[in-house]
Amino acid sequence: MSSLIRSVRLRGYRRLYGPSSLLAGRFYQTDAMTGEVVALPDIQPSNLQFVKTGNPKAPPPSKSLMFGHTFTDHMLTIPWSSVEGWGTPKIGPYGPLSLEPSCTVLHYAQTIFEGMKAYRDEHGKVTLFRPDMNMKRMNTSASRIALPTFNGDALLELIKKLIHSERDWIPREPGHSLYIRPTMIGTQRFIGVAPPSEALLFVICSPVGPYYPEGFKPIALYGTTEYIRAAPVRTTKGTGAYKLGVNYAPGVMPQKEAAKMGYAQNLWLHGPEHYLTEKGDAIELVTPPLDGMILPGVTRDSVLALARDHASAGYYYEGDSRCRSCRNSCRTLWIWYRCSYQSGRTYPTGDDGMGPISRPIWTELTGRQMGTIPSDWSVPVTA
Ligand SMILES: Cc1ncc(COP(=O)(O)O)c(C=O)c1O
Repeated sequence: MSSLIRSVRLRGYRRLYGPSSLLAGRFYQTDAMTGEVVALPDIQPSNLQFVKTGNPKAPPPSKSLMFGHTFTDHMLTIPWSSVEGWGTPKIGPYGPLSLEPSCTVLHYAQTIFEGMKAYRDEHGKVTLFRPDMNMKRMNTSASRIALPTFNGDALLELIKKLIHSERDWIPREPGHSLYIRPTMIGTQRFIGVAPPSEALLFVICSPVGPYYPEGFKPIALYGTTEYIRAAPVRTTKGTGAYKLGVNYAPGVMPQKEAAKMGYAQNLWLHGPEHYLTEKGDAIELVTPPLDGMILPGVTRDSVLALARDHASAGYYYEGDSRCRSCRNSCRTLWIWYRCSYQSGRTYPTGDDGMGPISRPIWTELTGRQMGTIPSDWSVPVTA
């Protein structure tokens, strides 16, 4: 604890939380004597406490893994309060959280999350793929719902320590990885809609297999016009561009309806125009601009960066303002061959389900993720 913060407490300085103390997503206290604004302590990796589980489990056979069902032995937790700022980070046994039934996350969806993966290359080296982008996006999401922000480098340092401790859970088979789920929730016991005075940041890990266990397959999309996923930021100051828990539950019922009709996913089409994310033939790559409609995906950004390298080949096409949706899922590119919109139109693909753009991009992207193609995007995990 810094001497300044300690003296703030000892002298019983006025406690402030609420809109007046939330500036640009960071929480502050005001020194009642001097009026000086004091930032609360940020995440401190050097304070990490490690409590080893007394009941370690054996990782299950990789073949039996189903996405999101298996969790490793340890988790990272970091408490926050508007009085003390970020508290002691702890890596301890994975297990239930103790929450009061009145806490704000359970009533007002004060929760944000991220999704990232740790990969093990053929030499055993463990890496993350562009994790700085996840830290940045998590802070943007936190600001949007008045949860506390944090030093992204500090959280990343702790996440690397967690991954290092869980490294034996990263399956060795090709295409497998450890899914990392950083989450933040409002934990204040309070029935009322306000910035929470207490929060918990936690990170859990889950070993996962390849997205396409049977080999790559393009998917069928249902062009959804009856529902929206989340309101766009640009036109309505909505939440579509943030990774908030509240953006996901309303999509489950439309997803169920699409599945009943035989589609793997919804292609969310926005506005009365129902603009579609395709330009008609197999050698164009189309994605909406980042104008607050969609989540700024790390995969999206990476695909565009790779496509830009090939722009001279005439492949690259970006930012059609009429194009309002794109699909990918954590670090996975989905390629689609059929869409319900326009009477179930189908799109030509090669024998392996890929086209002339998707094949080289897929190869390059997955190579860089898994570490078989060296790149600056691959960040080593060290203890
Ligand atoms: C709505 C939405 N869009 C896009 C993505 C892909 O994001 P990223 O490429 O950063 O993993 C996700 C993540 O699963 C998502 O939930």
